[in-house]
Amino acid sequence: MVRTATTPRPISIVPSVLPADFARLGEECQALEKAGVDRIQWDVMDGQFVPNLTFGPDVIAACRPHVGVPFEAHLMVETPDLLLERYAEAGCELLIVHAEACPHLHRTLGHVREAGAKAAVALNPATPISAVQHVLDLVDMVLVMTVNPGFGGQEYIATMEPKIAELRALIVERGLDVDIEVDGGIGPATISAAAAAGANVLVAGSALFRDPEGLEHAVRDLRSRAEAAAGLA
Ligand code: DX5
Repeated sequence: MVRTATTPRPISIVPSVLPADFARLGEECQALEKAGVDRIQWDVMDGQFVPNLTFGPDVIAACRPHVGVPFEAHLMVETPDLLLERYAEAGCELLIVHAEACPHLHRTLGHVREAGAKAAVALNPATPISAVQHVLDLVDMVLVMTVNPGFGGQEYIATMEPKIAELRALIVERGLDVDIEVDGGIGPATISAAAAAGANVLVAGSALFRDPEGLEHAVRDLRSRAEAAAGLA
């Protein structure tokens, strides 16, 4: 099917492994794959751009052979240009850089592609979509953060919904094939509003791992809520 800017975009449910058991990351990734996720997001944090310090490329490379679903790296780091190639080499097929950490964002996105990965830009809650309007032709996805990055389990910032809708309208107006991802506080109570606003890639950490009925139920429930909200059900 030829996908255009107005074609309803398929919903993807993407777990953050931030809440996972770090002592069993390979098994946790296998359980996520079995639960039916579309890909896995690694929250890479350097202790500078955000307070937390998480996964180096070697940790991701160690998990790569044990899982079939694609990996994406959310690079919450001060120096993405110095690190991005290593995350591509570790097996992440999509790299997300923060607009706030890239003084030469146009060049950095080219660097991501030269490293053989798909490119995405993340926007913190206070960053306007104007930060990406001149590079939308260079990205496969824009991540609209619905929390201030650095920790899992934070409260969803609903005031991001008009920003999601504004970005979706800009993408459609330009006739571009670009996904919108949201990340932070996404769960049963918030995913419908985010999808209705225009997000089609939904990252969830706490909501997945905390579901008392297990990962498979959580993925199925979130997907059905998002598809209904997006008019895809
Ligand atoms: C930024 C991180 C978190 C994590 C998911 O701090 O990117 O958003 O992925 O967080 P929760 O647990 O809210 O889904």
